[in-house]
Amino acid sequence: MNNYFITQKPYSIYHRKESKVIGLVNKALRRFKTGLHIKPLDVTVDMNTVEQRINYYHLLDGVIAYGIPGDVVELGSFTGQCAILFQKVIEQNGSDKQLHLFDSFHIPFAFKGNVEDELKENFKRAGLKQPIIHKGDFKETLPAQLPNQVAFLHIDCGFGGDSLAHRDVLLHCLESVYSRMPKNAVCVLMDYYDPEENPEGLDINPGVKLAFDIFFKDKPEKIVALFGEMYNHAYFRKV
Ligand SMILES: C[S@@+](CC[C@H](N)C(=O)[O-])C[C@H]1O[C@@H](n2cnc3c(N)ncnc32)[C@H](O)[C@@H]1O
Repeated sequence: MNNYFITQKPYSIYHRKESKVIGLVNKALRRFKTGLHIKPLDVTVDMNTVEQRINYYHLLDGVIAYGIPGDVVELGSFTGQCAILFQKVIEQNGSDKQLHLFDSFHIPFAFKGNVEDELKENFKRAGLKQPIIHKGDFKETLPAQLPNQVAFLHIDCGFGGDSLAHRDVLLHCLESVYSRMPKNAVCVLMDYYDPEENPEGLDINPGVKLAFDIFFKDKPEKIVALFGEMYNHAYFRKV
């Protein structure tokens, strides 16, 4: 068993080849023994970083190892870059947890092709069991279509738009799922960013922290910011 798959490029049918220029630059950097290597990120395709995939791997692996009851849920699945990793961890552990993916599949930025079809195709290409897909706006699908218990939750519904609108979407997600999380269940919040913890970072979706601060004002859970390189995220464990 290994987790080497976390180092692979996101499982997309839109595989990008490293450009010739970047290849030459990397060759020169190696030749002059700089210790540097350029890794371009295409924000329309790359939905996470290797560092984040390491975090996801260990958090979900721990949830399964400690026998936290419930299924795995992702709110905002897009083409499944994170979801495929979740299913891989489920299958590697021989777990019977089901993966539930929620998304409207209405992408506000330019994207070639049908997102839902690509999601299914990516699972097929990775040789994994297909997830249970809940298509529609969260306002319609949550909480009605959630499993009774959620052991691991990933909320990743950022669209780089209005931060207050995004905050409200996050609040609806948290309100819908919180009571279904048993003790020690884990929730990872994509794009959670606290400038006090990491002044060098980039706040792509400030609505995430705004929502967390409101929702958890009167609750015991504490947020743990995780190193994710160019992208930020954080998690909390249900008390
Ligand atoms: C950044 S992408 C998710 C990336 C994904 N986790 C991955 O690993 O590839 C955000 C997704 O959230 C979805 N989304 C945002 N707001 C939503 C809402 N109110 N209802 C349903 N889906 C929503 C978008 O359709 C989009 O696919």
